[in-house]
Amino acid sequence: MKYISPLVSPVFGRSGPRSLAILGSTGSIGTSALRVVAKNPDALRVVALAGARNVELLASQAGMFRPRYLAVLTEEGARELRGLLPVGYAPEILVGRDGYAALATLPEADLVLAAQVGAAGLVPALAAARAGKVLCLANKEALVLAGELFRRTCAESGAVILPVDSEHNALFQAFAGHDGRQAVRLILTASGGPFRTWPAEKIRTVTPAQALKHPNWSMGAKISIDSATMMNKGLEIIEAVHLYGADLDEVDVVVHPQSIVHSLVEYADGSQLAHLGVPDMEIPIGYCLGYPERLNIGLERLDLAKVGTLTFEGPDPERFPCLRLAREALAAGSPVVLNAANEVAVQAFLDGRISFPGIARLIEEMLSMHALTCVQDLDDILSLDAQTRTRAAEALGRGEW
Ligand SMILES: NC(=O)c1ccc[n+]([C@@H]2O[C@H](COP(=O)([O-])OP(=O)(O)OC[C@H]3O[C@@H](n4cnc5c(N)ncnc54)[C@H](OP(=O)(O)O)[C@@H]3O)[C@@H](O)[C@H]2O)c1
Repeated sequence: MKYISPLVSPVFGRSGPRSLAILGSTGSIGTSALRVVAKNPDALRVVALAGARNVELLASQAGMFRPRYLAVLTEEGARELRGLLPVGYAPEILVGRDGYAALATLPEADLVLAAQVGAAGLVPALAAARAGKVLCLANKEALVLAGELFRRTCAESGAVILPVDSEHNALFQAFAGHDGRQAVRLILTASGGPFRTWPAEKIRTVTPAQALKHPNWSMGAKISIDSATMMNKGLEIIEAVHLYGADLDEVDVVVHPQSIVHSLVEYADGSQLAHLGVPDMEIPIGYCLGYPERLNIGLERLDLAKVGTLTFEGPDPERFPCLRLAREALAAGSPVVLNAANEVAVQAFLDGRISFPGIARLIEEMLSMHALTCVQDLDDILSLDAQTRTRAAEALGRGEW
């Protein structure tokens, strides 16, 4: 494998607690990260928090952690937020994409946790990379959209990406202390989602409420639907290619319904090194925030005797076509189209406008309409993303999905 190492030890300029900016603090990853911070007050300190629409939760987080900076999506949200903060506490409040990007580049922040959902997280995450930050990356869509750009940017700026996504974090841990160039295969585990055992006819009837109920992980709405369609694993294949320099055919997926083995690296001699743990994002988040130290996470320990059985099976490409679509999109150079079409389709499904299989159909149609264009810089990416969203919205209006 022409392995690219993200395992450069980040250099922190000073001793004492690391200061942390969390983009997406009001989401599932953001709230887990704040639990890790609360359990490790000597190691971590919050300097900035950013939410989007959930201003009440952001105000309560801010009251508890007292960061110097906050950011929200709109001016109206900023006004509301100001009114909700405790008397005598007056942080600087920034707004919108520029505000998020400003928090991502704060000189006071040692670490930036990029935990916003979807393509909206790209610009702030890239700003952090351009500023040479240690970027703890949960927002997988950023790498799907702009993997090459991140690679170039990190090489120029000296930024380090620490992968929060549990599978990539597992690979990161399985690479540690080994020569990555001797790796031959990355094996991503997938829970298979709530419909793993459902026949195709029944999958046609899936409702948003059913799709939002993940069997093992508690996550935000978008990634829960991505897990149900297995697009989440497709996005993770692309993420792994960019993070570790693997070729597409060096990344495999195995379905593992218990979500205890979080992924594996296979080496040239046939050894496979895995990372195991209870399915809780505090573990990979803590690993990134404390790296290379291990923080106090304080969760119930994994007891394999209690778990009893770990099972593995191949993914079913017929019932879960999104895996194939993701591979095809990367091979064809159109992951931006894949991601934008997926975001539109997932939202339309959550709004009750399309069926569950309609998600894959809409994405496939958008990919088939896409003529190969050269997507190199941020403007190209944002413009193709916007163009695809418009096309997808038009297609949704045209027919039954
Ligand atoms: N959850 C997991 O277990 C998990 C695991 C691995 C990777 N990830 C990745 O981590 C990212 C976050 O996932 P999540 O499950 O934490 O999502 P989530 O619970 O939906 O939270 C999303 C966060 O993004 C903010 N946000 C929403 N729209 C935004 C916009 N237009 N601009 C800026 N911020 C916006 C939300 O703010 P408001 O709520 O205030 O509106 C919230 O703070 C995703 O990329 C996901 O794929 C998640």
